[in-house]
Amino acid sequence: MNTAIGDAFCRQVRLELTSCYLYKQMASWFEGKDLPGFANWMRKQAHEEVGHALVFFSRLTAGGQRADIGTVDPPIRDFTSVQGCFSHFVDHEKSVSGHLSCILELARKHRDAKAVQVLEWFEGENGIRGEEVDRILGRLKMASGERCPLLRTLDGDLAARRFRLPASLRMGA
Ligand SMILES: [Fe+2]
Repeated sequence: MNTAIGDAFCRQVRLELTSCYLYKQMASWFEGKDLPGFANWMRKQAHEEVGHALVFFSRLTAGGQRADIGTVDPPIRDFTSVQGCFSHFVDHEKSVSGHLSCILELARKHRDAKAVQVLEWFEGENGIRGEEVDRILGRLKMASGERCPLLRTLDGDLAARRFRLPASLRMGA
């Protein structure tokens, strides 16, 4: 694996684990607000982030690269509102997607087909998740206050989210 791509993969491992920390913190915040469905949704997202980190980590080690992944900063702990929390989620995902796009460009430039394949999977996954979050944000805009019945209905819907292991990990990568 090209050194620049390897370094970018290391950074991506750190970003995915940073996402896990942040979303676990958000899940805890939702628990404190008595919104167990939101907490479930965020917890499942946090677990998926660990899966994402493992995909990059396994590609690094399979490519003979030393995985120097560094440390994860503590996440923000308090949020102004449910909507504010999801907006923060969206901002964070945008920064992670931005880094993914840069690595994809790098991988295409170096004609690293395996890296391109992994990164294109993430691009698709981010698109699906982005559409889901847009729908949640759209419903949140209609809910006013933490006692609003619409918020409680949405909380019930988000309780149904299940954990999905990334395809490459399901196949034993
Ligand atoms: Fe991720």
